[in-house]
Amino acid sequence: MKSLLIAFMILPWISPRATAQEGAARDTGNRRILVAYFSATGTTAAAAEKLARATGGELFAIAPAQPYTDADLDWNDKGSRSSAEMNDPKARPALKAVKGSMAGYDAVFVGYPIWWNLAPRIVNTFIESHDLKGRSVIPFATSGGSGIGNSEAALRKTYPDLKWKNGKLLNRTDEKAIRAWVKELGY
Ligand SMILES: Cc1cc2nc3c(=O)[nH]c(=O)nc-3n(C[C@H](O)[C@H](O)[C@H](O)COP(=O)(O)O)c2cc1C
Repeated sequence: MKSLLIAFMILPWISPRATAQEGAARDTGNRRILVAYFSATGTTAAAAEKLARATGGELFAIAPAQPYTDADLDWNDKGSRSSAEMNDPKARPALKAVKGSMAGYDAVFVGYPIWWNLAPRIVNTFIESHDLKGRSVIPFATSGGSGIGNSEAALRKTYPDLKWKNGKLLNRTDEKAIRAWVKELGY
């Protein structure tokens, strides 16, 4: 009986402290990160997976309601779906699914293959379908050789109210280099 009484006296002092420590761990080491990416042929998906591992972030595939066929992706064909979309700045290909609230995320990485030196229009659809205000938004991309600069500048210009952080091209970037970049960003 005596020991039970002592336990009741001590417990309230132990548990709030434990809770505070758990809270501190959440604040510093485990910010909630979303790694959202569009990938037509798998290259950006592989980069996104490395980034998710490096950040401990959650992956979300930005998938088109209507998948892109090889013919859709033919950049030599001026009439192909990708050519038509990229020639129309207002094109917004429909998403297969919306992720929902962004409120729980501190940072949202947005990945894409560079198309005609830009982000594919479905990236615009993703951004416009989710409330990213207040989150850090960080672009990443893969390409056949183009840099990320032009596509990133275009995104910043189209969405000036978002809290952009400098993006990175992740062509053949290994996980160690990705971890170094993530650390540089402060995550
Ligand atoms: C329609 C289309 C346009 C492209 N335009 C460019 C470009 O302007 N510059 C470039 O370096 N690569 C370009 N590429 C190549 C892709 O960016 C590259 O293959 C990318 O890694 C593919 O990523 P994914 O497998 O995730 O779709 C283009 C590819 C497609 C299908």
